[in-house]
Amino acid sequence: MSRATDQFKTRRKFLRMLSASPLLASPGLLSGSFANLMATGEVTEKKFLGWLDSLQQDDAVISSPDQAFDVMDFEPAARKALPPAHFGYLATGVDDDGTVRANREGYSRIQIRARRLVDVENIDMSVSLFGTKWNTPTVLSPVSAQKAFHPEGEVAVARAARAKGNLMMLSTAATSSIEDVSAAAGAPAWQQLYPTNVWEVGRAIVKRAEAAGSPAIVLTVDLQEGSNRETLFRAQVVDKRECSACHRSAYTGYARGRPRAGTGGFAQYAARKPMFDGLDLSKVTATHPLDMNWDYVKRLRDSVTVKLLIKGIVTREDAQLAVEHGVDGLIVSNHGGRAEETLRPTIESLPEVLEGAAGKVPVIVDGGIRRGTDIFKALARGATAVGIGRPYAWGLAAFGQPGIEAVLEILRRELRTIMRQAGTISVDKITRDYIVGRSS
Ligand SMILES: Cc1cc2nc3c(=O)[nH]c(=O)nc-3n(C[C@H](O)[C@H](O)[C@H](O)COP(=O)(O)O)c2cc1C
Repeated sequence: MSRATDQFKTRRKFLRMLSASPLLASPGLLSGSFANLMATGEVTEKKFLGWLDSLQQDDAVISSPDQAFDVMDFEPAARKALPPAHFGYLATGVDDDGTVRANREGYSRIQIRARRLVDVENIDMSVSLFGTKWNTPTVLSPVSAQKAFHPEGEVAVARAARAKGNLMMLSTAATSSIEDVSAAAGAPAWQQLYPTNVWEVGRAIVKRAEAAGSPAIVLTVDLQEGSNRETLFRAQVVDKRECSACHRSAYTGYARGRPRAGTGGFAQYAARKPMFDGLDLSKVTATHPLDMNWDYVKRLRDSVTVKLLIKGIVTREDAQLAVEHGVDGLIVSNHGGRAEETLRPTIESLPEVLEGAAGKVPVIVDGGIRRGTDIFKALARGATAVGIGRPYAWGLAAFGQPGIEAVLEILRRELRTIMRQAGTISVDKITRDYIVGRSS
């Protein structure tokens, strides 16, 4: 018998033995995928190795929140749980996703100077924002359309925020209302504002949020029409499902073309977005008015009776102008790398925004925060608090409320660890003295 025939027989014997193994026979273990492999006909070595490889990859994906070591473990779990187009929507940046990566990499260029021999038995991670105290400096940045990630969407996020003591911001493009979210959060959420090109529509959203008790309106200014979300577009090509089975239309405002007034384009997009309920959308063509300028901010400032923040500021000049226009707070953000491809991390924009704000208003930073040490570095650079977007959406997509709670708990635990290690017992003690690195 030739050596090759010998090897082949040994392999066949091994595969037969595996197929008879009680491990593979037990339901819920490997049996399903192995049965599929056997059903493909001749099991070649290549096919078998491919199966083993996929098994290892599948094994690496967590199947419950308690298996996660860090928040990044939730990303593959979200990818596994979601249809390709929905995961693509969550993951996408613009162009080459370079700014998404830059946000993350920015933190690796800052190092921590840890002090020793400090009594760190009691660590206080709380922060105050406009007189309200939160358990943690980590805020949930607004993420739209969360029912695309989990049927409970924003309400699950609100419940998790309540359980862990985090502040939540609700997107205008949310799939749950400010009333439902605030009830679930136990305290009114901050309302993010896409005012649209029709003043009355934006104003009505503000008034509704104020009536629901929202203590702050967050005007997002970094997202113009037509951002090139290529990762999303590629995922949409791969996704063969008929989208209209679940939602009537995907808003094309960020893609190629935009809905036209009078055709019902925007109204279709808004149909599953409760913050637009009951509003006349017949003249709305965009979430963000292309002619929005500082006069608009002044007009909005005069109309908003609660705190007004601007989200998406990345320069000293704009920070100064915002303060001059009576804005109460700033969020340094590049929309998680989903607006323009600048390749500039938000953590590197933070110092100049702080200069522009000159200590007159709180400054929050978001984008790329994935570790407790990232939170520590942002606070050390002068941020009042930090925001996260994708990490809690991964937790939501993978496991619903328990997934979000696990993400928040991991970040909390990691922050406590680095605060102990560096000898900083409260957030106000985390100063620039504790970091070195690029323009620290
Ligand atoms: C899927 C998705 C939807 C988002 N929707 C909004 C939104 O409706 N309004 C807004 O101001 N920012 C939105 N953002 C930006 C986030 O508020 C936040 O700035 C960003 O996610 C932070 O970066 P990170 O995801 O790296 O943490 C969205 C981000 C993602 C990933």
